[in-house]
This record gives sequence, C-alpha cells and structure tokens, in this order.
Amino acid sequence: MAHANWSFDTLAVHGCHQPDERTRAVSQPIIPAVAYAFPDTDTAAEVVAGQREGAYYGRYGNPTTQTLERKIAELEGGEECIGLSSGMAAISAALLAYLQAGDHVLVTRDVYGGTYNFVALTAPRFGITHSFVDCTNLEAVAAAVQPNTKALFVETPSNPLLTVLDLRALAGLAHSRGLPLIVDSTFMTPCLQKPLELGADLVVHSATKYINGHGDVVAGLVVGCKRIIDFIRKRITGDLGQNLNAWEAFLILRGLKTMGLRVRTHCGNAQRIAEYLQNHPSVSKVHYPGLAGHPQHHLAKAQMKGMGGIVSFEVEGGLAAGKKFMDSLKLAMISFSLGDPETLVQHPATMTHYSIPAADRLKFGITDGLIRMSVGLEDAGDIIADLEQALGQLQHKEEHAHGSKTG
Ligand SMILES: Cc1ncc(COP(=O)(O)O)c(C=O)c1O
Repeated sequence: MAHANWSFDTLAVHGCHQPDERTRAVSQPIIPAVAYAFPDTDTAAEVVAGQREGAYYGRYGNPTTQTLERKIAELEGGEECIGLSSGMAAISAALLAYLQAGDHVLVTRDVYGGTYNFVALTAPRFGITHSFVDCTNLEAVAAAVQPNTKALFVETPSNPLLTVLDLRALAGLAHSRGLPLIVDSTFMTPCLQKPLELGADLVVHSATKYINGHGDVVAGLVVGCKRIIDFIRKRITGDLGQNLNAWEAFLILRGLKTMGLRVRTHCGNAQRIAEYLQNHPSVSKVHYPGLAGHPQHHLAKAQMKGMGGIVSFEVEGGLAAGKKFMDSLKLAMISFSLGDPETLVQHPATMTHYSIPAADRLKFGITDGLIRMSVGLEDAGDIIADLEQALGQLQHKEEHAHGSKTG
C-alpha cells in the first residue's frame, strides 16, 4: 500500500495493516496459535534462521504481535520493533542487549522507580554496575563515563519530575564515547517525540500507558536496528521469556488507532491544569514542560510536538497537606499508572518511587510533598472543578489554623 505521504494519524490507523486475506475482516485478527505448520523442513529452517518471514513458536513471535511491531517500528521511524510483556521487560531487555558482567551503565537521575530498581538492585547481582547522573548537565555525563561504561540510558520527560533532556546532544556525546543511547519515551509516544531521529539507538516504551491508552494491558516495546532487536528476540527475551501475547497485541493495535486524538486531548487538558495549578495560592510548585517557567521549556518546544499529559506539583503544607488534598478528590482517582482515560493521582514517595531510598529520592528532587497527576480525557473544566474543591479543603484548614487566608 502506497503511503509515503500519509501523516502520523493516518499511519496510526492504516499503517502495516491490511484487511485479512481470507475473511476481508477490517480489524486485526487475533491469532493465538503457539505453533505453526511448515510445508517442508527447509522452510521451517529458513523461518527459524530469520531468512524467511513467519512465526514458528509463540515465545519468539506471533502474527498479531508482529503486526503491532511493524506498525510501531513505522511510527517510531525505526528498522525493527519487538513487543514484550511489560515496560520493565522492554527496559531490562534493552539494557541487557548491551551489558554483561563487568560492564557499567550511566542512567539519568530521576527515572521510573522500576528502572531504578533494575539498575540499582537487580543488575548488580549479575556484575553490572551503574552511576546515576544529572543528564541535564553534559559535562557531568562526560565526566561520569568509565572505561567499562557500555550504555547511556535516559528517560525524557522524566517520571515524576518532567525533566526534559537534550536527546540530540546526549546522542552526540554518547556516540563520541562509543556508547549507545537508550531512551525511555513512554511519556511521549511516537506521536510527540521521535528519539531515533534525534540520534538515539534504541527507544523503549511502556505500552501500558498512552500507546494502549485504556488501562487494560501491561506491555512494552523496544525499537531500533534489526541487529539489536533480533538479538533481543533470540537471546534476551527468547531465553528469559517475556513475550507479548496476541490478545494484548490486539488491544494495543485497537488503542493505537485513537492515539493521536487521545494524546492531543491529554496534552490540552494538562496544559490547562498546569496553568490553573500555577496560579493557585495553595500550590507551591508545578512541574510541566508546557509552562514558560519550566527549566527546559524551550528545549521541550523544540524537541517535542506536545508537552504530554503528566503534571507534577506540590501543595503548601508538604506531605500532610498533599495527603489531605489527594484524599479530598472526587473525580480524580488515587492510583498507580498513567496515560489512561481517567485522571489518576499518586504520591511518588510512598507509591511509584517508594523503593528508592529517601536520601536518593531527595537527591533526585522527588520530595515527600510531590504529587503526580496523569491528566485524563475527561472535560478539563470538570477536572479543574475537582481540583478546586480539594484545594479548597486545604485553604479551609489553613484559615482555621492561622485565622488568615494565604495569598
Ligand atoms: C516512564 C516509565 N517507564 C517504564 C515504566 C514501566 O512500565 P510497565 O509498568 O509497563 O512495566 C513505567 C511505569 O509506570 C514508566 O512510567
């Protein structure tokens, strides 16, 4: 199908996706088969050796999952993609593709708690060491490279602080030291950011979030060159077994068709909410790349097509006030995860980033009062009304305590 000029939204609907040959079904068939029959032994050998397209055993690939993989590779602008059973499977597989015992990895400071755990707790058990480094500071990154450093891993914008990193500059620096750059682009989706075009070697996603977008699948994706993706398929996930199954690949293919619409609404709502929070007297700090005061606002505008749906903030009164605020919400739900249609709030210090020791959390800027909000697809006015009533509870408390209203 000729689609050289199709835009992103058209590719998200039609890319790598033809009606089923036998039934002419428009939506993608779910093929749960584990085993595939071959006409002869030579064909079987060619498929196993990767010399001929096809599936041969469920752990190494599946036709429904392959449709998703082709589609994501196309949307992300990469040669190949592999679908995996979770975002953490994608992150660990991407890192293990480059690292072995005796190697060192550089990781940006404020990363998702699961990534922190893998690098700080699990990888060392296999002889892999790490340094967390402030990747907004290129000199600090260059200084942290060790003779045995084998990869640079970043997340941008970061979870939960929305730090934006200069991918072109980091790719240049990594390549000048012979290192691959791996980027967790979960907060952006290929709709808003294309790390491979900026020089990254691998892109990883938790497809659990915006790519599927409906809060009913746990999945991950790695996109990059054929050599590395083949290695991950055969050696890493082939041996560790974190394959993505057909049913979940189907759900993601379904979610993908509305990704552009959804992501643009998330972004529009998040911008309105960040501006509302910034002007509220009970809010002391707001982290959102779409605000002019964000430290990397200009970089974000140059590197990203939209600012994403996550807003983090602190309320006056720290942890106790933050808890009261969250407990007072009526529309937004207290919940893990992000990128769902529902607005979700969570408290990183006791929830997603709980396993990071308090001293490290503070070093990374994750204060005890920080609240992360995944702005949903509800009407922005309704979300703001909910915030207004919950923040109002804090003002009542302050008035009660001090006999005056904060300015
Ligand atoms: C930025 C980021 N990367 C990776 C993950 C891990 O994804 P999963 O839960 O699909 O393993 C998460 C989960 O919240 C995340 O926020």
